[in-house]
Amino acid sequence: MRIGIPREPAEGQKLVSATPDTVGKLIKLGYEVIVEAGAGVDASYPDQLYRDAGAEVVGPQEVWQADIVTTLDTPPQDKIDQLREGAVLISRLGVRIHPEIAEVFAERNVTAISMDAVPRITRAQAMDVLSSMANIAGYRAVIEAANAFGRLFTGQVTAAGKMPPAKVYVIGAGVAGLAAIGTANSMGAIVQATDVRAAAAEQVESMGAEFVEIPAPAQESSDGYAKEMSEDQAKAALKLYTEQAAASDIVITTAQIPGRPAPLLLTAEAVAGMKPGSVIVDMAGGNCELTKAGEVVVTDNGVTIIGFTDLANRLPGQASQLYGQNIVNLMKLMTPEKDGNIVFNLDDEVVRSITIAREKDVLWPPPAISVSAAPAKPAPGAATPAAPEPEKPKSHAMRNFWIFVAAVLGIALVAVTPFSMLPYYIILALAIVAGFYVITNVTHSLHTPLMSETNAISGIILVGAILSLAQSTSWIVTGLAGLAILIASINIFGGFFVTHRMLKMFQKED
Ligand code: NAI
Repeated sequence: MRIGIPREPAEGQKLVSATPDTVGKLIKLGYEVIVEAGAGVDASYPDQLYRDAGAEVVGPQEVWQADIVTTLDTPPQDKIDQLREGAVLISRLGVRIHPEIAEVFAERNVTAISMDAVPRITRAQAMDVLSSMANIAGYRAVIEAANAFGRLFTGQVTAAGKMPPAKVYVIGAGVAGLAAIGTANSMGAIVQATDVRAAAAEQVESMGAEFVEIPAPAQESSDGYAKEMSEDQAKAALKLYTEQAAASDIVITTAQIPGRPAPLLLTAEAVAGMKPGSVIVDMAGGNCELTKAGEVVVTDNGVTIIGFTDLANRLPGQASQLYGQNIVNLMKLMTPEKDGNIVFNLDDEVVRSITIAREKDVLWPPPAISVSAAPAKPAPGAATPAAPEPEKPKSHAMRNFWIFVAAVLGIALVAVTPFSMLPYYIILALAIVAGFYVITNVTHSLHTPLMSETNAISGIILVGAILSLAQSTSWIVTGLAGLAILIASINIFGGFFVTHRMLKMFQKED
């Protein structure tokens, strides 16, 4: 079968649905690929690169006649009319917002695949174009904010004085929010974030930011997205956002609940309370009362509000690559024989969820699939399980007991140790104190290099312990050296084991 990659018809769309790299991968799956002349130019992929990858560069008429056509967004009607009967269109069709689009394709007997309807389940992550674009856009939102912000992100101490780091507050820690947190953090800012889903706290913290909780958080729904808040919860959240915005330099808002308008998080009053020079990037468009879609607004009190709706479009090369790779991943799923023939296995929940029209039938909406890790709700009428006992707070008495035991053991060990060894204990104690403060202050992003460092230290410990063991005349030295060898070995071999597992995650299937 032939896959056609047209030049995107929408004005200003710089992305292309396949790059030379992804074209090569489609060809490996057995497809022929035709690319419209100039399709990738705005994303810095000239025609010659597509030819080199094995594609044929064709004119605008031929490309829409392919068996399978991939685009970024729903094509205009004149392009839909050019599609062959029985053809397949793969695109972001916005079917959640415009369900009637499915009928347009069913009437034309075009099989339509809506890439933006990929369910949020682990297996489908590799095809999730919304996540790919939100990830790129979250990064770009921070770059736009930094561009508009008249100060450094990172704190500095110079001969001329101290400069504090910028404070960035992210509301909504989904894909875009987490990407923004990671970027702002890597640029040296102090980052805080809030989400209505309590489960987001762990992800926020793992990206190196502080999670600021809403007094009354809402719950995650069974489709992996947030539920709408009650009126009281929304009021408490609004108060929190207003206070946080006043204390921050940059606010990036990404809050959304699918199928609903973006919730209002920052009122005009909240913006009026912000410091002059502060920047808001309203990614969801509608999270801030004063946002103007596609524009930059500067308020009377000097707050810049960025309402760009094309953030991913501002990084077209990589955004196209991710989009194209999402399509390659879908085609791998739908081309089990790697023979260039697309197979519609509608028993597959991913294929079923995104196929919205096929053989003149409208297939939207698909049957619901539960993607949440949260326990399923009991069926109506079923007995409600007893609420679990609240977990008791960890007892301080227990902790103090163990500290006491450790102290007694430590003193006993020192008492039976030869006097000549005492300086080593002092060094050990100082090393523990220094190590504790150094390690706990290392940012999350540097934990991997830190692990390598501890592996090297374990190597030194191992050598020292073996030497001590060889010369040991006392059972204490023998015991301590043996313990050191054991712990250092666990660290080294455990390190290799973890590294091996991590590397495996990046290995190509074939
Ligand atoms: P997502 O669904 O992964 O994340 C949204 C997050 O907002 C969720 O974690 C949700 O729990 C949270 N949320 C919902 N209501 C909230 C509230 N009242 N307070 C705090 N948190 C709340 O969505 P994703 O993919 O991260 O996209 C975020 C937004 O960015 C979407 O509106 C999307 O359309 C937009 N977007 C904008 C782009 C642009 O160029 N401006 C480009 C890409 C995405």
